Parts: sequence; structure tokens; C-alpha cells
Amino acid sequence: MNRVLILGATSPIARALALRFASDGARLYLAARNADEVRRVAEDVGARAGIPALFGTFDASDFASHDEFVRRAASDLGGLDGVVLCFGTLGDEDVAQTDPKEALATIHQNFTGAVSLITLAARHLEQQRSGFIIIIGSVAGERGRKKNYVYGAAKGALALFAQGLRGRLAASGVHVMTVKLGTVDTRMTWGREGALLTIAPTKAADLIYVAYRKRAEVVYVPWFWRLIMGAVRMIPESRFKRMSF
Ligand SMILES: NC(=O)c1ccc[n+]([C@@H]2O[C@H](COP(=O)([O-])OP(=O)(O)OC[C@H]3O[C@@H](n4cnc5c(N)ncnc54)[C@H](OP(=O)(O)O)[C@@H]3O)[C@@H](O)[C@H]2O)c1
Repeated sequence: MNRVLILGATSPIARALALRFASDGARLYLAARNADEVRRVAEDVGARAGIPALFGTFDASDFASHDEFVRRAASDLGGLDGVVLCFGTLGDEDVAQTDPKEALATIHQNFTGAVSLITLAARHLEQQRSGFIIIIGSVAGERGRKKNYVYGAAKGALALFAQGLRGRLAASGVHVMTVKLGTVDTRMTWGREGALLTIAPTKAADLIYVAYRKRAEVVYVPWFWRLIMGAVRMIPESRFKRMSF
């Protein structure tokens, strides 16, 4: 039986993923910032899957609390076999581009908080020489766009961190999967442009779960983002800086 910690469990993508894991018999610890919402998600997942889900709260920016939080989750689960990192926020990009306080908040909520929590969980998995880590990143981390480079920088750094961690943990039998997610219909993207390529959270979760079962290393979700980002990366910098997207 897999014992899985899901960070950012009130995301609809995480919630759908939680159901996939629970339906396969996993025991879950669901965590997010909002205590009432994460309790509701845990009750819902538990009722649908027929296995009670544990739940708790954490704040990605509260680094001092992370060690105790990861220990408590692992202890309540009776061990830890896997971690799914699904937290993040766009923040206020317009403000972040001129206000370092807002920029750092975005970086902490998407990158440094993830580094802190994943490093603690990875230590645990490495010691037991088994397990997995799924890191939900973003295609926004593939190239710095003028409209969202603070968020994009955090996701780009997260992808590099995951890549190095995958290499280090390979020798211990711990699998690290990076998800390069395209646009998904959640509160994060509600009201923004680009609806044509947007997929439902349940679809995203299905694709992520299939990739996890195949032990993929890096997966674009959906697959066509690999082509799109391949083309985007090839645009010369002198032209890219003038593009409006
Ligand atoms: N939606 C997209 O198009 C898209 C595209 C690419 C990548 N992603 C990534 O997918 C992941 C899920 O996003 P989503 O679209 O499902 O957004 P969402 O519905 O806003 O979910 C975000 C999750 O992150 C948690 N969170 C945010 N700040 C936190 C903090 N400081 N400490 C702890 N938890 C925090 C939220 O918990 P609370 O509710 O408790 O605050 C929530 O569980 C994120 O990493 C996002 O960057 C999304």
C-alpha cells in the first residue's frame, strides 16, 4: 500500500489525482493552507474512494515549520512512499515585476518552499531507498516571457531542481517525475486568455497518473505542449523580446 503526501491538495488537479491514488488503494495525507477546504477535500476523497484520507495544513513560505510538518505527515501515515507537489500561485505578476516583496512571495510559494519541503521528504525516501516524488511544474518555466517571468522563473528553477534531484536519488531507487503542465481550467487561470488549449483538471490528473504509472521522468501535459514549447524555445531572443505574449 502506497502512503502518499499530497501538497496543495485543494487544487482541483491535486484533488483528482488524490482520487486516482486512493482508488488504487493508497493511504493519503492531504495538505494545503486552507484548513476548512482541505478537510472538505479529504472527506470527499475518503467518501468516494472508501478509504479515509488524513489531512493537515502547511504554508510553503513558513520554512521553519516544514521539518515538523513532514515528520508529522509521515508519522500519521505510518511511513511515506510518495510525495506529490501540487502547490503554487501566480501571485500578482504586475506588482511582482516592480515590487521585490511580491516577487519574493511568488518565488517562495512556487520554488523555495518547494525546495524546503521536497528536500525534507527526499531525505526520508532516500534513507528507506524507495519511493517517488511527483513535481507539478509548468510550461511557463521553459522560457522567460515578459508577461509572467517572475512565476516562470520560479517554475523554471523548480524544473532544474527536480532534474538534479532525479539524478541524485536514482542510485537510491527513488523516482522523481517532473510534470510540465500546460493550461488547466482552475481558479488560477479563470478568466485568462488561451481557452482553446485549456484542459479540465480531471483530464490533467488522468494524464499525470498514467505518466506516473509508466515511471516517466519528464512529461508534458497534454503532450502537444512539448511541440509548442519546442517551437517557442527556437524563436530568436531579438524577436522573442518584442512578442506580446
Ligand atoms: N492551472 C494551470 O493552468 C496550471 C498550469 C501550469 C502549472 N500549474 C501548477 O499546478 C499546480 C496547481 O495549480 P492549480 O491551477 O490547481 O491552482 P489552485 O487551484 O490555485 O491550487 C493551488 C494550490 O496551492 C496551494 N497553495 C498556494 N499557495 C500556498 C502556500 N503558500 N502554502 C501552501 N499551499 C499553497 C493552494 O492551497 P490553499 O487553497 O490552501 O491556499 C492550492 O492547494 C500549481 O503548482 C500551479 O503552478 C497550473
